[in-house]
Amino acid sequence: MSKLWGGRFTKQTNRLVEEYTASIGFDKALAQEDVQGSLAHVSMLGKCGILPEDDVDKIKEGLHTILQKIARGDLEYSVSDEDIHMNIEKQLIDEVGSVGGKLHTGRSRNDQVATDMHLYLRKRVVEFAGLLHDLQEALIGQAKANLNTILPGYTHLQRAQPILFAHHLMAYVSMFQRDIERLQDSYKRINVLPLGAGALAGTTFPIDRHFVAEQLNFDSVYENSLDAVSDRDFIIEFLADASILMMHLSRLSEELVLWSSTEFRFIELDDAFCTGSSIMPQKKNPDVPELVRGKTGRVYGNLMGLLTVLKSLPLAYNKDMQEDKEGMFDTVATLQGALRLFAPMIATMTVNGDRMREAVNKDFSNATDIADFLANKGMPFRQAHEVIGKTVLYCIQNNKYLLDLTLDEFKTFSSLFDDTIYTVLQPETVVNARNVYGGTASSQVAAAITRAEERLQATGAWVTEYLEKSK
Ligand code: ARG
Repeated sequence: MSKLWGGRFTKQTNRLVEEYTASIGFDKALAQEDVQGSLAHVSMLGKCGILPEDDVDKIKEGLHTILQKIARGDLEYSVSDEDIHMNIEKQLIDEVGSVGGKLHTGRSRNDQVATDMHLYLRKRVVEFAGLLHDLQEALIGQAKANLNTILPGYTHLQRAQPILFAHHLMAYVSMFQRDIERLQDSYKRINVLPLGAGALAGTTFPIDRHFVAEQLNFDSVYENSLDAVSDRDFIIEFLADASILMMHLSRLSEELVLWSSTEFRFIELDDAFCTGSSIMPQKKNPDVPELVRGKTGRVYGNLMGLLTVLKSLPLAYNKDMQEDKEGMFDTVATLQGALRLFAPMIATMTVNGDRMREAVNKDFSNATDIADFLANKGMPFRQAHEVIGKTVLYCIQNNKYLLDLTLDEFKTFSSLFDDTIYTVLQPETVVNARNVYGGTASSQVAAAITRAEERLQATGAWVTEYLEKSK
């Protein structure tokens, strides 16, 4: 088997070396992007008079045939052709004859592979923004259905103050909004064209990089040829954004696991999103959130892996950089898997409002509010805190909750108490008293939902526009 770079060599490549250095096993995922980049490149070679239009037409025709084969899944790859770039070039030469060998004029695999990665990742970033949009929509749907559902809010996983379940869900909508904005922002740095940098220094051919950029919908062209072929920041940035996003999914997963336990029984995941036990017939396990929580590890690992590959790499291209791909593909697949399941899993979960209410009735999460009551009557808050601490201790010792105390009992702790305290202590009052921007009062949460729905629309429009741009 002759190599595309075989001229300088006197021996066949060792078979193990071939297998060890080949990337075709995984970079075949870039096949479509590779042809897309080549089509723009060869058009430019024609436009700049570097290749005669005749040759350009033949090469384009061959590339289109290859595109069809890729779409049908019947392009054959060979390890001896090392990577996707040489596999496709070989195919092209098989298809159109030696004129196919003119495609690589004024280009190197170094600027070619970088271009493929930019084309690939910009699409994924838009798709992930779309999947996050769907997840936000599901969360907002549950929030709207639970505008009157009160549950204990926690700090230190101890009951703290009652909140609306809608408010809790909307916290995740805010987190995923930041994830969307991070991805949108990263698009600017992904959407830069490396092609034309050649192997590292540029090319002797009179190419037009801006023409290629325009053809491929890149907003700009790398300023420095060395940077163009050795920059993997855009992939690291994606892996970092993915890690933060996965951390958010993992936190939500942890709550779903807790909430669906018998100890909490706050929610029930739909049967279609749970699995059973091979030995314990009663079990219904939250495997999806558990696995998402578990897979967060590999997403962080892929980020650390690539940061480490790039650390200390001298300019410009080094073969080490081929290691940028598997982690990226793995993170893309892991995130796709999680996000595709999350939206329907959230949309179909059952919320056990009665059970949440029972939890609120049987705790002291309204204690802050009687301290605030006394403070409003003129007692210094610090002193009120002390008085209520004693009241709670009395309740615990006598097996009561605050709302069980008689007015006489209240008065033994402070003469400032009157019978309005029973209204103050109702969970609804406690929740609606937090009527500040961003607070849990139902009018505030309703306003937050309205704002989130407006942003949802904006994200939807962005995704539609950028799906088109990044095709
Ligand atoms: N398969 C290679 C990679 O993924 C493509 C670039 C190879 N360039 C080179 N000079 N060997 O990095």
